[in-house]
Amino acid sequence: MTTLLAATMLAGGLNAASAAELTVGFSQIGSESGWRAAETSVSKSEAKKRNITLKIADAQQKQENQIKAIRSFVAQGVDAIFLAPVVASGWDSVLKEAKEAKIPVILLDRDIDPAGKELYLTAVTSDSVHEGEVAGKWLAKTVGSKPCNVVELQGTVGASVATNRKKGFDTAIASASNIKVVRSQTGDFTRAKGKEVMESFIKAEGGGKSICAVYAHNDDMMVGAIQAMKEAGLKPGKDVLTVSIDAVPDIFKAIAAGEANATVELTPDMAGPAFDALTAYKSKGTVPPKWIQTESKLYTAADNPQKVYDSKKGLGY
Ligand code: AHR
Repeated sequence: MTTLLAATMLAGGLNAASAAELTVGFSQIGSESGWRAAETSVSKSEAKKRNITLKIADAQQKQENQIKAIRSFVAQGVDAIFLAPVVASGWDSVLKEAKEAKIPVILLDRDIDPAGKELYLTAVTSDSVHEGEVAGKWLAKTVGSKPCNVVELQGTVGASVATNRKKGFDTAIASASNIKVVRSQTGDFTRAKGKEVMESFIKAEGGGKSICAVYAHNDDMMVGAIQAMKEAGLKPGKDVLTVSIDAVPDIFKAIAAGEANATVELTPDMAGPAFDALTAYKSKGTVPPKWIQTESKLYTAADNPQKVYDSKKGLGY
């Protein structure tokens, strides 16, 4: 795969042709959320735009499957490997194997433990600590000095984004003594678990009347939590404030209906910038920065949720 590319480079005809010859293996986590489905779908369309061959391996939420997929990509001699790491730790050996095979690895949307930094070329991610801070600041501003008991739905245990979104939120509310996180549990980034955990929170909080706000590490868990609150006779978006992360179409539907309040956007286009960095690296030797940061924008009912819903609904969420 790389021989033709080298010939093209020697001939001086670099960019368009070089992208067309690239084959990238993508170890994707699975399809736990609407955001994840959109990321897979956008990755395919971004690859197609650039004539890149993209081989996607769905790990069904299991790190062992991701490790197997990476080994198989190494054996196939792909030009690069994209990895969305389900958890942050445990990548050293397999990424060393990719490095020894001279196959660059690019992380998408989640990080690995800092000790592994020399094992990948670049990471295309948001600042997930900042996402949590944006959510926490919005809540602190919205409740003002009113006492507020928060329940938190965490993402997958051990995932960088779950650790960081918790940390950012906790930091943002640290100086607001009126805001307390009274319950916090993982909902594994899924709608079904978000609903289940929210039901247990409502039960434990005497029917939920003492809950002032729900913070969910992703919108899918929040959509599940909204359902649980409605079934328990609560009014999400009104009696119970909601703030979550991703900006998937369904949360805009809920915001438009007055059943959710705020979301922090995570772009599903992680692959586009990764392909561009890879192409420049392969064709011109340009070493990308270690971190290619994507934006984190806050949306509320003031941002025309119906219009945002319409603009996002065709993206594969
Ligand atoms: O790593 C990104 C997170 O993974 C998204 O916020 C969540 O929806 C997904 O499962």
